[in-house]
Amino acid sequence: MRGKLKRFEENERRDNILQPGKNSYENIKGKWQTDYFKNQNSIVLELACGRGEYTIGMARLFPNKNFIGVDLKGDRLWKGSGIAIEEKLSHVAFLRAEILHLESYLKLNEVDEIWITFPDPRPRVRDEKRRLTNPRFLNIYKNVLSTDGWVKFKTDNTDLFTYTLEVLKERKDIRNMEYTYDLYHSELKPDCFDIRTHYEHKFNDQGHDIKYLKFRFAE
Ligand SMILES: C[S@@+](CC[C@H](N)C(=O)[O-])C[C@H]1O[C@@H](n2cnc3c(N)ncnc32)[C@H](O)[C@@H]1O
Repeated sequence: MRGKLKRFEENERRDNILQPGKNSYENIKGKWQTDYFKNQNSIVLELACGRGEYTIGMARLFPNKNFIGVDLKGDRLWKGSGIAIEEKLSHVAFLRAEILHLESYLKLNEVDEIWITFPDPRPRVRDEKRRLTNPRFLNIYKNVLSTDGWVKFKTDNTDLFTYTLEVLKERKDIRNMEYTYDLYHSELKPDCFDIRTHYEHKFNDQGHDIKYLKFRFAE
């Protein structure tokens, strides 16, 4: 608990964490490039980022893009934020927010790619609305994503993956979808840059194949 409180205190002082109580948090919508990143480079979002492995991993590979990791849990964001500071990755930010409220922080078409990495599977039927690939979340992603932007989704959970495919196949506004139930033995593998998250390691070690899909929204 002590460790957690210390991390929360540090998060207050860190410029790369945007969270409630900070001025940057309330006023960032539509201004990520001008006010935070101070460049016009494209923006990649990682949702449910936890410790931010994708955000950090991609930021190392792509210095000419900007990256925002989003999660509710400050103690997890602390980890990725610390690495970004240590490695001087100034094109990285972490947003502590509920994904349902994403449109309070991002304007229409403000981001160019969205990664959803190992979200909680929410297996109970009554929790279906809380799955990050439920239609109400997809509608938010469609709004904040640029017209040609990709959504990329990784999970170890077969039920969540199958549910997501069903939801996407029901919709009339999905194009260019590709998917695999076994990423590590798929030609889609290079898409993921061999970056593996904390949960990816954990579940893969338990014998679960990693599933992956990507798609774009149509008009
Ligand atoms: C299973 S963890 C995965 C973390 C990381 N992506 C990984 O692969 O190691 C799921 C994360 O999603 C976050 N999360 C779940 N629902 C969320 C929501 N509605 N808004 C923001 N974060 C959420 C949780 O706080 C948690 O850190």
